[in-house]
Amino acid sequence: MKILGIESSCDETAVSVVEDGRKILSNTILSQIDIHQLYGGVVPEIAARAHCEAISGLAKKAIREAGGLETIEAIAVTNAPGLIGALLVGMNFAKSLAFSAGKPLVPVHHLKGHVAANYITHPDLTPPFTALIASGGHSHIVEVLDYTTYKIIGHTRDDAAGEAFDKAARVLGLGYPGGAKMEELAKIGDPTAISFPKVHFPDSPYDFSFSGVKTAVINYIHTKKQTQTAYSAPDVAAAFTEAVCGVLTEKAVLAAEMSGCGKLVLAGGVGANSFLREGLENACRQKGIRLYLPQKALCGDNGAMIASQGYYEYL
Ligand code: KG4
Ligand code: ZN
Repeated sequence: MKILGIESSCDETAVSVVEDGRKILSNTILSQIDIHQLYGGVVPEIAARAHCEAISGLAKKAIREAGGLETIEAIAVTNAPGLIGALLVGMNFAKSLAFSAGKPLVPVHHLKGHVAANYITHPDLTPPFTALIASGGHSHIVEVLDYTTYKIIGHTRDDAAGEAFDKAARVLGLGYPGGAKMEELAKIGDPTAISFPKVHFPDSPYDFSFSGVKTAVINYIHTKKQTQTAYSAPDVAAAFTEAVCGVLTEKAVLAAEMSGCGKLVLAGGVGANSFLREGLENACRQKGIRLYLPQKALCGDNGAMIASQGYYEYL
């Protein structure tokens, strides 16, 4: 069964067709990074307008490559969470297409979509499992009870991991988006050179807080600049990455261990980070937990993950 997936919640317009939730037949994407770079972050109104311009052409291409609209069973679309103007573009495009073609419309939660990227990468993966979702707007640990039923067991109390990456990158002068650039810089730094805070809550072992580590990086750099002291940007990036990825790993692996199902799935844009992937691999190997990493190309926002989750929602 072929499902069309439409994603427009932030700064990527993406349309894809996926068969039976697992096999990508077409995958079109247009990133708006070039447009927003000028402003150092996503400008919601500009994002919505850029989605309007791109969505029709991308959908046409994705549908054509997958064998035509008549072969598609249902239209899946990200309905939340995200930038409201950006979401409205994808939603209204999907509604119009579904109505005119006489096909069912399937709303998909963006974060469930990120998790579903793993169904494409790992044909053998089935719920139940524990998932760590780390994106630009969210940091959650969830129990995926079945394809559509999620139980949130931990979340960030302030900034998301990706947001902290982007803000730390900005003070280091790396520009937007910062995550991947921080990773490159961290590769040549010493993670033990500086100690940034790792937050734990005694009463909620699966909750995160990343605003402290973000502020610690900002204060560290400001103090160095004010006192005209040299500092190593790679060391800052490495120590920051160690602090953020260390906490994500520790809590996610503990949650997977306590759940008893022995499976941990990584999801979201921060999931592309190789330090996080290696840290999870090492910790899961030690604990005997089976780890599922999404292919890097499907970590960021894409239409295929929405089509995959859309398939299970539709069933
Ligand atoms: O999941 P995503 O594409 O969009 C949201 O749903 O938010 O996540 C985007 C976030 C950004 O904050 C970006 O800086 C971060 O993922 N990111 C990374 C890496 N690649 C993207 N963070 C750390 N390391 C990376 N390699
Ligand atoms: Zn996302």
